[in-house]
Amino acid sequence: MNDFLPEDTIEEVRQHFDLVEVISGYTSLKKAGQNYTGLCPFHSEKTPSFTVSPEKQLYHCFGCGAGGNVFSFIMSQENLSFPEAVKFLANRAGIPLPERQLSEEGKKIKIVKEELAEINELSMKYFQQALFKTEMGKKALNYLTRRGLDKEIIKKFQLGYSLPQWDKLINFLKSKGYSQENILKAGLASRSERGSYYDRFRNRIMFPIFNQQNMVIGFGGRVMDDSQPKYLNSPETILYNKRKSLYALNFARFNIRERDEALVFEGYMDVIIAFQKGRENCVASLGTSLTEDQARLLRRNASKVIIAYDSDTAGEAATWRGLDTLKSAGCRVKVAQLPPGQDPDDFIRKKGINTFNEEILNKALPLIDYKLKKIGEEVGESYINTYEGKISYIQKILPVLAGINNSVEFDLYLQRISSEMGIDAEALKTEIKKYKKRSNKKGSGNVTEIEKKVPSREKSPPAERELLMVLLKRQEAVGEIKERLDSEDFTFEPYRKIVKEIYNFIEQGKGYTPSSLVDSFDDPHLKNIITNLTMGEDSNPENRKRIVEDCIIRIKRHQLALERKEIEKKINQLEKGKDSGEINKLLEEWSKLKRREKELVPYRREQL
Ligand code: CTP
Ligand code: MN
Repeated sequence: MNDFLPEDTIEEVRQHFDLVEVISGYTSLKKAGQNYTGLCPFHSEKTPSFTVSPEKQLYHCFGCGAGGNVFSFIMSQENLSFPEAVKFLANRAGIPLPERQLSEEGKKIKIVKEELAEINELSMKYFQQALFKTEMGKKALNYLTRRGLDKEIIKKFQLGYSLPQWDKLINFLKSKGYSQENILKAGLASRSERGSYYDRFRNRIMFPIFNQQNMVIGFGGRVMDDSQPKYLNSPETILYNKRKSLYALNFARFNIRERDEALVFEGYMDVIIAFQKGRENCVASLGTSLTEDQARLLRRNASKVIIAYDSDTAGEAATWRGLDTLKSAGCRVKVAQLPPGQDPDDFIRKKGINTFNEEILNKALPLIDYKLKKIGEEVGESYINTYEGKISYIQKILPVLAGINNSVEFDLYLQRISSEMGIDAEALKTEIKKYKKRSNKKGSGNVTEIEKKVPSREKSPPAERELLMVLLKRQEAVGEIKERLDSEDFTFEPYRKIVKEIYNFIEQGKGYTPSSLVDSFDDPHLKNIITNLTMGEDSNPENRKRIVEDCIIRIKRHQLALERKEIEKKINQLEKGKDSGEINKLLEEWSKLKRREKELVPYRREQL
């Protein structure tokens, strides 16, 4: 994870910052006892459940579960990787970083990447020159003006024009010393079957695509008439990954954060027109099925997302999948509906941005309502008033209702639908349950990615939780615990991983802190567990020694019980084959385990 940053440097950066101060730059904090609290910057809330510990240099939100240290905070707020976050903070603190030690292969890739970025930047400038300074470009500039764009916005988005000849750009780039090979790698040239190279983009309006550091990573090119394809985009390159990019996020990020809301359009023009009219929290997905990466990008910047796609694509299966992906990433999703045949760009130009805000965005429907409405339209509004209509409608909305995880939300929809349809809420509930059972059997279920990652509470045994809490809060207890319990004795996987890492630190003769542990894991769920247990309240701080003893006993008993169950399983299998010798051996082992289990007597409640 931090392969090229020396640990000393990471430590120096960590020590330099006070987490309370850093976080205060993002959300306001108030002192509350030993800690500071404030509104969580990771989810929207009205009462503060976000807590920062100056002593531990950790934060944890007891509302949404997000937690970490100064590095993970900067990672999520600034959308950076771990090394990038360390660099970001080192920069701010003026701490020099050693030159990156790359492998030979890594060095080569880095050099190519830098060169491709230069090629893209230079090409963007070339396209702009062509737009503003050539005779051919006038036609392109006219086209943009006709579509309502003013000069200022054309400059902001750095739009350009690719000349119609086959080799203009290639020749220009070569004259600047770039190789044919790299021009091809940047996605700006294509190769013919006969092996000659030609400009990929010709006679098109050019839309540069930026990453969040404002680097040009690719282009989209639009024709100015009805010829096909309407848009030609950069291929995937080592700089451009379509699934991980959102058009205009570099321009919109600040406003998205400020509003805690992102507006997702389908196309380049929708975004640019909206920006020109002063709506600056919008991006384009460049495809209708939002990917997990894109959803995560959005979620890192806002908790609310409004989708405003063209009316005809809004109903497509790919779009729906994208909406579910967004929801799984933890966004509150609303869907705006446009009049048939119009896209946001048409609408804004015809009716103005205010009407768009009021008529379209303010009336956007929450995802569930939107789905219910669409299914209603599909079945036929009038048909729903017949018995068959109702039955078929209910069948179709079962998956939607079964997908609602929040029980209050679920109940509200249940009440509403049952009263609208004139059917009993209990009957509807029964159907949903049946549906869930059926779909679970099919193995798919409705388990979202997030649910898979957040195991239910039942699975985390209290004794393991308690003991891990001690390990996190009292490093001096680790010796005794390590001697008596193996990390493998922890049955709950996330805990096992954390304990294993703690033991690793100890075996390497290093101390650990919860903050250093947070850096050991990429998985935010594990980071959250660490901060939750470190900052959560002690159940009973006075009797720590006895609690530790009790937990060890309980964990060991649990282990033995599991082993016994395994043996029972084997015995049951053997009984069919009647191998009595083998059975006796197993029974003996079983009794041994049972005896050992009996010797381990946990404390009674009143003893603790
Ligand atoms: N798109 C694409 N390739 C195509 C068609 C569309 O990559 N052949 C992408 C582009 O990012 C485009 C978006 O899908 O911006 C939406 O497509 P569409 O609605 O057809 O284009 P508009 O953005 O509405 O473009 P315009 O208004 O200029 O017609
Ligand atoms: Mn359009």
